[in-house]
Amino acid sequence: MGDWKRVMWYAVFFFAFFGMYSGFLAVWGQEEEEINPKKLFEYHCATCHGEDGKGTKRGRELKAPNLADPDWQVKKKDSEILDSIVNGKNKMPRWSDKLKPEEIQALARYIRKLAPKKRS
Ligand code: HEC
Repeated sequence: MGDWKRVMWYAVFFFAFFGMYSGFLAVWGQEEEEINPKKLFEYHCATCHGEDGKGTKRGRELKAPNLADPDWQVKKKDSEILDSIVNGKNKMPRWSDKLKPEEIQALARYIRKLAPKKRS
């Protein structure tokens, strides 16, 4: 086999392997797509709650609480927050048919981060 042929075969193998590898990565990457609660919140919730959770003008008109208030945070249980996002509450829309359960979980945790922790 001439040298140039050998080099060609190396190149063919290299690209075949590389192609498979990047294809595999692309599929794998899609399945492992990370939930970004900050983005979800800004996209779905900030219209009423504001990006910082304090509530926009529209939110306050609908009687949305200040989610960034530490006093509000201590009074709320995780299960209540989760339940309100899943099922809605008064003017707060329900999200169970728009968001995946994992996304709702991530949002509930994100809401906890909107306020500085207050420990009694
Ligand atoms: C149309 C405006 C609107 C949007 C959009 C909205 N909310 Fe609300 N949200 C409200 C209002 C109004 C309340 C107050 C409900 C009440 O207690 O009467 C509320 C309350 C809440 C509460 C407190 C629930 C409780 O148990 O007191 C949480 C947590 C919350 N919203 C999270 C979210 C999340 C997360 C999203 C996005 C997925 C979101 N909201 C989108 C209007 C909105």
